[in-house]
Amino acid sequence: MEKHIIREPIAYEKIPTRIYRDPKEASKSVAVEIAALIREKAKANLPCVLGLATGSSPKTVYAELIRMHREEGLSFKNVIAFNLDEYYPMDPHAVQSYWRFMREQLFDHVDIPEDHYFIPDGTLPESRIADFCREYEHKIDQLGGLDFQLLGIGGNGHIGFNEPGSLINSKTRLMMLDHSTRVAATMDFGGELTKVPKKAITMGVSKILQAKRVVLLAWGERKAEKIADAVEGSVSEQNPASYLQTHPNALF
Ligand code: GLP
Repeated sequence: MEKHIIREPIAYEKIPTRIYRDPKEASKSVAVEIAALIREKAKANLPCVLGLATGSSPKTVYAELIRMHREEGLSFKNVIAFNLDEYYPMDPHAVQSYWRFMREQLFDHVDIPEDHYFIPDGTLPESRIADFCREYEHKIDQLGGLDFQLLGIGGNGHIGFNEPGSLINSKTRLMMLDHSTRVAATMDFGGELTKVPKKAITMGVSKILQAKRVVLLAWGERKAEKIADAVEGSVSEQNPASYLQTHPNALF
């Protein structure tokens, strides 16, 4: 057992769950897993297809990956990345945009080629979103699917922006955001609820579940109840994170 793990998964948990002393140590171990996968794929001359997440939780993982790039020669040249979601509508240069977030938190600091990362486009006319979403999934499929999906969890159990009520077979689509999600995001929008977009484009639950490996991060007590429910309760559309009980290789 790694020395920073407080406890390894236990039998009644329906999703293997590791508890760490602090987010930094947990993030380190997730970054080590991602780096090993990138290197293994590079060795075999294969692309490494990563599903990436925004929110505060993955920031420490990205910081560790950047450190490994700088200090340990970890290259992202073979990485192809697909982000989970983006607000709609959203200007990619706005401070709240997930496109900007990913550039600032990871892509601008590593050697990933500019045409190797994809983020749902918050500038599309609404009439083109359905086609865009189909194409987004098609691109992932053509690469053989996601090798690894990194996830956070919303206070209401959402993954990506798959809000409660999302079906297990839901596709990448435009989603109405929950009131609670918009309230949670107000601080990012100058404290004004009316400025928080009402919609977002999100990768669907089914594409997330098709990833070969899924790791969900949750830090602090705020998320404890939703996590316990997802890990120990029954699979329910009321808590989309619980869908990961059906995944053969997920880790919380
Ligand atoms: C947003 C994102 C989710 C993320 C969630 C939690 O809603 N769309 O993908 O998991 O925020 O964010 P945080 O990690 O900041 O708690």
